[in-house]
Amino acid sequence: MTRITAVLLAAGQGTRMKSNLPKVLHPVCGRPMVLHALEAARAASTETPVLVVGVGADEVRSRLGENVRYAVQERQLGTAHAVMQAEALLKGQSDYVLVTYADMPLLRAETLRRLVETQQANRGPMTMLTVVYEDPRGFGRVLRKPDGTVSAIVEEYVATPEQLAVKELNVGAYCFRADWLWDALHRIPMSPKGEYYLTDTVELAVRDGLPVQAIVLDDLTETIGVNTRVHLAEAEAAMRRRINEMHMLNGVTLIDPDTTYIEAGVTIGADTVIWPNTYIQGQTSIGHGCSIGPNTHIRASKIGDRCTVFFSVMEGAWLENDVEMGPFARLRKGAHLCDHVHMGNFGEVKDSTLGPGVKMGHFSYIGNAQIGPNVNIGAGTITCNYDGEKKHPTEIGEGAFIGSDTMLVAPVRVGEYARTGAGAVVTKDIPPDSLAVGVPARVIRTLQRNNRDE
Ligand code: UD1
Ligand code: MG
Repeated sequence: MTRITAVLLAAGQGTRMKSNLPKVLHPVCGRPMVLHALEAARAASTETPVLVVGVGADEVRSRLGENVRYAVQERQLGTAHAVMQAEALLKGQSDYVLVTYADMPLLRAETLRRLVETQQANRGPMTMLTVVYEDPRGFGRVLRKPDGTVSAIVEEYVATPEQLAVKELNVGAYCFRADWLWDALHRIPMSPKGEYYLTDTVELAVRDGLPVQAIVLDDLTETIGVNTRVHLAEAEAAMRRRINEMHMLNGVTLIDPDTTYIEAGVTIGADTVIWPNTYIQGQTSIGHGCSIGPNTHIRASKIGDRCTVFFSVMEGAWLENDVEMGPFARLRKGAHLCDHVHMGNFGEVKDSTLGPGVKMGHFSYIGNAQIGPNVNIGAGTITCNYDGEKKHPTEIGEGAFIGSDTMLVAPVRVGEYARTGAGAVVTKDIPPDSLAVGVPARVIRTLQRNNRDE
């Protein structure tokens, strides 16, 4: 089998970001930009990619973990020198080497695959990506021979006026025949700036009498490279559009894609409608037929089918099917709302399960609670779950009716089909089928289950 290995360069300083965070860890649509680059590179190669790290290496490693190989460039002596750091790992271990820069999060896997395929059909040692664009953005200029093959890449600061006028630019992604590459890297001369440029491989190939092929990219957004926070915002906007289009093509309605912020990795079922000014982040999945937003923030949550989330906030929460929440509801970590739960305005739920059909209409806090099916939680009900040191559990049995403004002083248990009167402060367990009222609440009578007051 042909072995294709991607080498991603990420050792540079990233000075222009003016940040304590290594450049390649800055997120684009919720994910470090290097992970976008790695995902595309992986899809176009057959071996575990190699990331060349230098400045901020430890931080990059601890963030990305060990499903990528690392080569360390101790001093930043240029892009060719950076690739050379992967030689010890890859020499004799790979037939083709795909080199890209880790600060290009929008390069697509298909594009890199096309680059590799073109190189496999090229009798020369390398194939590269170019783009034709009016604004050169400091990119290297691509010079062609009359036969259409590439003769050189000229970096902007050494280019002549005629070369500066060239509109074909070097994107910064190359596929090399490995045996040629490892030898060529050692032949690269030092530049006037004291660095070794990968782009000089082109002239070496030409001198060897071998053709360099280039693929011209149509989609300009793929070539966005992040050097400053201005570029970072451009990359974010382009990636956001790409993500939104993917969801729309999958059958999701976005009322206003320009104000819908969906991070990479989110899944959404068909016929779900996302209203404006909505943020969907982290590992979130949403089923089909839901209505989400407007003005809603969802993070790391799971939402089933046919749910409505209206003007609300949720993080680390789970809605089963046919749940309605909002406006102005807040679910925190460990909130689990089962089928057909209705949660109205100004409620907060944390580390609790609300069983199927529970109704919690207005102004409540439920924490560390297990609530059985079809319980009615009256307006203003609070689980007093925290004594200043510890959290304590509350349990409410099936069909119970919690009167308005009830305080449930945990740990406490309310039995099945029990009721509390308005304003009750429940400090002791209430047996099933009984009515408790007052401060502190006491049981005043037993209820008939088949003939309960409504
Ligand atoms: C490079 C290309 C240029 C191309 C442009 C596209 C060279 C010499 N020039 O220029 O033709 O148009 O990208 O964006 O390659 N890096 C290291 N170690 C180093 C130096 C750089 O790992 O010693 C990494 C950086 O982290 C970065 C990438 O290589 O991810 C590119 O380096 P950068 O300095 O941004 O090159 P450009 O000047 O943009
Ligand atoms: Mg750059």
